[in-house]
Amino acid sequence: MTEQLERPHDTGYGGGAPTLPRKLTVPDVVAMKRDGRRITMMTAYDAAFARLVDRAGIDVLLVGDSAGMVVLGYPTTVPVTMDDMVRMAAAVARGASRPLLVGDMPFGSYQTGPQDALRGAARFLKEGGMDAVKLEGGRETVESVRALVDNGISVMAHVGLTPQRVAQLGGFKTQAKTSRAARRLIDDALALEDAGAFSIVLESIPAPVAEIVTERLAIPTIGIGAGPSCDGQVLVLHDVLGLFGDFKPKFAKRYADIGGAVVEALRAFDADVRSGAFPDAEHAFTMKESELDALRRNLARPRAV
Ligand code: KIV
Repeated sequence: MTEQLERPHDTGYGGGAPTLPRKLTVPDVVAMKRDGRRITMMTAYDAAFARLVDRAGIDVLLVGDSAGMVVLGYPTTVPVTMDDMVRMAAAVARGASRPLLVGDMPFGSYQTGPQDALRGAARFLKEGGMDAVKLEGGRETVESVRALVDNGISVMAHVGLTPQRVAQLGGFKTQAKTSRAARRLIDDALALEDAGAFSIVLESIPAPVAEIVTERLAIPTIGIGAGPSCDGQVLVLHDVLGLFGDFKPKFAKRYADIGGAVVEALRAFDADVRSGAFPDAEHAFTMKESELDALRRNLARPRAV
């Protein structure tokens, strides 16, 4: 890996000519597996958090359709539309400059075939400013993956627990737990690699199965609930920050309780307003005494009609 790919805080702003951290590309991310460097991926859905994800030095920023649950308040990702995703993607692209940006194809945007997949993916690149797209599924998506790649659109695949199929799967359940199901998943992953996917998300599968997939594929595997052997790891931002209380998957690690901090801050605001402590002089505007006197004199006169 070249020096250009070092984290922002490693790029030597302090000495010599400032070097801006270079934007990561699809080949950079693929090369990270070859070079034995772990890949970090995080979701974001707006410009403010995208800026923070970028500052933290995360490699890949996914505008996930998990937005349906953690931002839009749906019980699953299924109702999310292409318009929802493109709007959020464009905001994320305005906020982040270094990470590779991946837009998640929502349910219904690619299951209808390669032409629809191309149309939706093109919107992600043109309107949403994404570098690549992600889509869920195994061999049934190979034709669409190939069509996208052949037309210059990089694809991240996603197998294992595919939340867009949650109704069919009977819930958010760990997949590939039997030898037969694991073999099917491994063959799916190989087929997606053959179709040109540059990377693959492995969600909620036994760690030994993820290890086998990671060994057999040349492209990077990005795990979420798939154990430590994957080439990279992804989590949902709202799980990491404690911003989503409705449901916490076993694999999600909470690194901060921002939700708790938000409630505490809002309670303090609520109490300050009710008691009259806010706004105080520090948070209010003044005007010249002479102007205020003039206003008072003016107000003593009858109102102009
Ligand atoms: O939508 C999403 O956030 C995802 C990740 C969990 C990989 O697909």
